Amino acid sequence: MADYRNIVVLTGSGISAESGVATFRDKDGVWAQYDYREVATPEGFAANPALVHEFYNARRRALPGVQPNAAHRALAELEAGLSARGGRLTLITQNVDDLHERGGAKDVLHMHGELLKATCTLCGDIREWREDLCVETRCRLCRREGAMRPYVVWFGETPRHLGDAADAIMSADLFVSIGTSGSVYPAAGFVAEARALGVPAMELNLEPSENAGLFDFSRYGAATEVVPTWAAALLAGDPPTVS
Ligand code: APR
Repeated sequence: MADYRNIVVLTGSGISAESGVATFRDKDGVWAQYDYREVATPEGFAANPALVHEFYNARRRALPGVQPNAAHRALAELEAGLSARGGRLTLITQNVDDLHERGGAKDVLHMHGELLKATCTLCGDIREWREDLCVETRCRLCRREGAMRPYVVWFGETPRHLGDAADAIMSADLFVSIGTSGSVYPAAGFVAEARALGVPAMELNLEPSENAGLFDFSRYGAATEVVPTWAAALLAGDPPTVS
């Protein structure tokens, strides 16, 4: 275990796929069914807020029916195992679901926001939100109507926690990308940042991502298989090797 004590993991929708949460760009993915410009941009929300609320309400309602899988749990065990040895796992996710937390992870940086939170565009209040949102929903802090939105980062908006992510990559021994196609920046650029800093990078994905050529190591297969195997090997002191 001497080799890798500080690990940065970036996850994408592929890690939640086997829990029953749709990915975005796969054949039956979310963006095959919806136009992202209509439901995931500030312009789309301004044009048709009811449609955008409906889209996120459906996804929020589905969350209690999906459960974390072996890959989420393996990352939580890795977080605990590294911490017990004086190391650290920084878990950065593009996912807006809460499956990392329910899988036992203590500290998750949700760079694209969280489905179970809502924010008021007038007063800036951010709070846990489990109910449906609609155009008339009243802010629980400022009490004004008509300005609530999902706490989700849309295309054209700045992702959250970028400073923490950059700091973590800078001091990492290993950067690992799991279940993401590498299509959306800035997350897709983390591997290049890591490599530029001399931090080795590993990809765990169903198939080679768009950035596959940038990784030093890779394991391809379903997340529930490759992630637990990799995490257990790492905790057992078996560092990744070229595959
Ligand atoms: N195990 C591992 N990987 C999987 C699995 C699985 N069971 N199923 C699918 N994958 C992989 C796919 O091969 C693909 O490379 O997960 C990746 C999913 O890619 P995308 O659908 O592009 O999702 P993601 O990378 O998370 O998208 C990034 O795009 O629209 C935005 O904000 C949204 O956060 C999202 C961002």
